[in-house]
Amino acid sequence: MLEIQEIIAGYGGVEIIHKATLKVNEGGIVSLLGANGAGKSTLLSVVSGLKKPWTGTVHFMGSDITGRRPDEVAERGLIQVPQGRRLFTRLTVMDNLILGNTPSRARSIREELLEKVFAMFPILADRRRQLAGTLSGGQQQMVAIGRALMGAPRLLVLDEPSIGLAPAVAMEVLNHLRQLNQDGMTILLVEQNVAQALSISDHGYILENGVITLENSAETLRHDPQVLKAYMGV
Ligand SMILES: Nc1ncnc2c1ncn2[C@@H]1O[C@H](COP(=O)(O)OP(=O)(O)O)[C@@H](O)[C@H]1O
Ligand SMILES: [Mg+2]
Repeated sequence: MLEIQEIIAGYGGVEIIHKATLKVNEGGIVSLLGANGAGKSTLLSVVSGLKKPWTGTVHFMGSDITGRRPDEVAERGLIQVPQGRRLFTRLTVMDNLILGNTPSRARSIREELLEKVFAMFPILADRRRQLAGTLSGGQQQMVAIGRALMGAPRLLVLDEPSIGLAPAVAMEVLNHLRQLNQDGMTILLVEQNVAQALSISDHGYILENGVITLENSAETLRHDPQVLKAYMGV
């Protein structure tokens, strides 16, 4: 579904991503894992069209989308939940959700999408008229995911959805992602939270200083000595 091939990208003259190659198959849940500063968000910006790569290509559902504008990428069904949520805290939960309902495919089924979001996150239905900024961190992350779902994603990309949340709340958010995946959503999940992310993933990639150093099934990575030592404190 998504094929990132030999992407090189950076800021100014500084190369950050060094020939990264990564694939997400339809129906899968793939984690891109790495420490703070490894280049995860930079690589995601290339995928979602916020940043042009220096070289390399991104294909989505068979089309070359390298260098396409973010709105064109979203229109094709590749929707990102940005790092840090980026909600409009002075707007209501409902208004934030509606703001994600921009792709034309999604606009025509707005009510249906809203029902799905409220079925997945009933607390958001209860709080729909509340200002987003007054919700807890976990609830705000649910709004950010809900807003992305309002765009009718074919591929949902999330940049550190568990960051800043208490471990139990983080796991709750990740379990929602697993549920979405079981309902058919393809997911690319970026996380520093390696153990928890692998526990819900099929496949994983480890990014270190802009280089993909390891790639395998989530099951294999969970037991890899290098991963255990570097990311799970074993
Ligand atoms: N807008 C920017 N301008 C310059 N350097 C940046 C910018 N954003 C990120 N970087 C640098 O790129 C590297 C990778 O950052 P980032 O992609 O945010 O990593 P991660 O998401 O894995 O934490 C870091 O060294 C960071 O300082
Ligand atoms: Mg980041």
